[in-house]
Amino acid sequence: MRKVMILNGPNLDRLGTREPEIYGSLTLTDIEKLCHQTAAELELTVDFRQTNEESELIKWLHEAAETKTFVIINPAAFTHYSVAIRDAAAMLTDGLIEVHLSNPISREEFRHTSLISGLATGTISGFGANSYVLAIQAFARL
Ligand code: DQA
Repeated sequence: MRKVMILNGPNLDRLGTREPEIYGSLTLTDIEKLCHQTAAELELTVDFRQTNEESELIKWLHEAAETKTFVIINPAAFTHYSVAIRDAAAMLTDGLIEVHLSNPISREEFRHTSLISGLATGTISGFGANSYVLAIQAFARL
């Protein structure tokens, strides 16, 4: 079975209570279940992780690069300023899809810049938890 790593950045562990008018009412555990369900239907396996720490996310990207694993990433706030996350993502060889629950381009100006988008096969934003479902479906068709 093909495997995909789904990596989540800071504050996404607070989904459910964090600004639900922007991010919806599902928790990250709900989203993880949805991802496993979607992946199973497509005969894929998912390794789903979240961290609030930049260094941990970098280590996971190194691991994905070494194991040649496809990555779906919601870098959260790191999207907008972390050159270190971008540099780690640049080492991936198997591909990358960037996801966001909200549509950062329709929000504050500081969210309009993504350091990751230029490295990604594509970006899926603005569909809430369904952004993850769409990303898994896109990966399955690649
Ligand atoms: C986010 C958008 C980012 O701007 C924000 O910092 C997040 C979540 C999203 O999924 O919509 O933490 O990545």
